[in-house]
Amino acid sequence: MLFHKEFGLILLFIILIHKYRKNVNIENLKKSVDTIINSTKTISEKQQAICDFLENEISYYDWVGFYFKNGDKNELKLAEYTGEETEHTIIPFGKGICGQVAVSNENFVVQDVSEQTNYISCGWKVKSEIVIPIFVNNENIGQIDIDSHTTNPFTKDDEEILEFVCSKIATLY
Ligand code: SME
Repeated sequence: MLFHKEFGLILLFIILIHKYRKNVNIENLKKSVDTIINSTKTISEKQQAICDFLENEISYYDWVGFYFKNGDKNELKLAEYTGEETEHTIIPFGKGICGQVAVSNENFVVQDVSEQTNYISCGWKVKSEIVIPIFVNNENIGQIDIDSHTTNPFTKDDEEILEFVCSKIATLY
């Protein structure tokens, strides 16, 4: 009986430490993003710095990039990115994960790209993808796109961090 009680307390302690460390980590990531946004860099330099930072900080982020609506065309155009070069610099609205987010205006979390039929492959190494839209005055102007070489890597924390990034990027426009 005593053993069970102690075991329970230790488990609770481990869970609390884990939760605390995660929160601290998210807060630190947000602070670094803020520092980049508030720096004297140009918009393009800030976006590049955020791509570089996220790819570097989060082990399972292997490609990080921004796509924006291409003028008044119904297509996305690749802006800054970190990772392997891609031939998908223009994506029509509705096509692939990115094109679907341009139309749905919703986060798209793909834990396993092999389960998606409307998907544009950026190489065999990519196993999962997350795309979060950027809104300015309620208009979807673009998105952040992350590719991962790991299956099933994303949690609600990724959506929280990336929504924060997108809200900060929105202030630049
Ligand atoms: N996989 C994306 C295409 C862009 S690459 O990930 C860089 C898609 O399906 O829209």
